[in-house]
Formats: sequence, C-alpha cells, structure tokens
Amino acid sequence: MLMRKFLEIAHDSNQYRQACLLRNAVLRQPLGLSLYDEDLDAEASYRHFGVFVGNELAGCLVIIPLESNKVQLKQMAVEDEFRGKGFGRLLLEEVQECLIASGVKEIRLHARETALGFYERLGFVGEGARFLEVSIPHQVMWKRIRQD
Ligand SMILES: CC(C)(COP(=O)(O)OP(=O)(O)OC[C@H]1O[C@@H](n2cnc3c(N)ncnc32)[C@H](O)[C@@H]1OP(=O)(O)O)[C@@H](O)C(=O)NCCC(=O)NCCS
Repeated sequence: MLMRKFLEIAHDSNQYRQACLLRNAVLRQPLGLSLYDEDLDAEASYRHFGVFVGNELAGCLVIIPLESNKVQLKQMAVEDEFRGKGFGRLLLEEVQECLIASGVKEIRLHARETALGFYERLGFVGEGARFLEVSIPHQVMWKRIRQD
C-alpha cells in the first residue's frame, strides 16, 4: 500500500503551484485549454486540498465558500497513474471531515458526465438537466454533510 498524506494546501505555496499543474494537465490540456489563461486571483480566498505520495501530488481539489454554510467543490483531479486506487475517495472523504469541522452543511459541484458515478459512490445526488461547461456535458450534484 502506498503511503498517502492528506493536506490542506496554502495558496501561496509550492504545493499550490503543483496543484495548478495537475489541474491544468488533467482538466484543461486535454480540451485544448490552459488553466493559466483563466483569472486565478480569486483562488487566494478559496481552500485547496491535496493527497500526496511522498512529495508527489496524486490528487487535488478546490473549495469555494458560498452563502448559508454551503461550498462549491471544483476541479477535482487525480493524476492518471493513481486513478482507480482510492485516492479520489480518500481526498473527498478527508475534505468532507474538514468541512464538517468548519460548520459547512452542504457541498455542491458541477460533475462531468464521466465522473457522475464517482460522486454517486461518495453519496452525491444529481439535480436538474445536463449542461455544457468547458464544452463537455456536466450536471449539478450536491451532498448534505451536516444535519444540524
Ligand atoms: C473522477 C476521479 C477524480 C476519481 O478519482 P479516483 O482516484 O480514480 O477514484 P477512486 O479510485 O477513489 O474511486 C472511488 C470509487 O468511485 C468509483 N469510481 C471512480 N471513478 C468512477 C467513474 N468515473 N465512474 C463511476 N465510478 C467511479 C470507484 O470504483 C470507487 O468505488 P468504491 O470505492 O465504492 O469501490 C478521477 O478519475 C479523475 O481525476 N478523473 C479525471 C478528471 C475528472 O473527471 N475530474 C472530475 C471533474 S468533475
């Protein structure tokens, strides 16, 4: 079993820069896009999380605070060679624990059609019709993580 380390990543850090590289490689380059063409300034106020194997980033995601104790999860990406090995589940479950501890009650996200099954396994439910984002089909999904 590979040693896995879950971390919250500081915005102004090398780990954040590693996360941007991974997000770009997994979520933007295959679509002919670049993350670095986007305005990333607001990311200083978002939360960033990653799962590492040694110093190597295996997966990451971004959490955007919304109103009413809700957050939006975006740009979840697991490095190709680490997929299907439980890294995505570990990352999302650990993030959930951090968010519950912070008083967050609901996570919302725009799931790529190809990732719907992953989020369903993690307890998310779909809402509304499919729509296009970065040229590919998505669906809104959400999960209640605190009942109080
Ligand atoms: C989607 C993604 C984050 C999943 O990460 P992962 O590390 O491969 O997933 P895990 O190995 O932790 O899988 C967790 C569970 O989900 C299931 N699962 C994983 N990917 C799935 C998929 N695409 N469809 C259906 N089920 C899936 C696994 O079988 C596993 O089930 P189990 O734990 O109940 O046995 C990863 O495949 C990825 O980065 N994909 C490309 C980028 C992407 O689409 N990101 C999401 C943007 S919305």
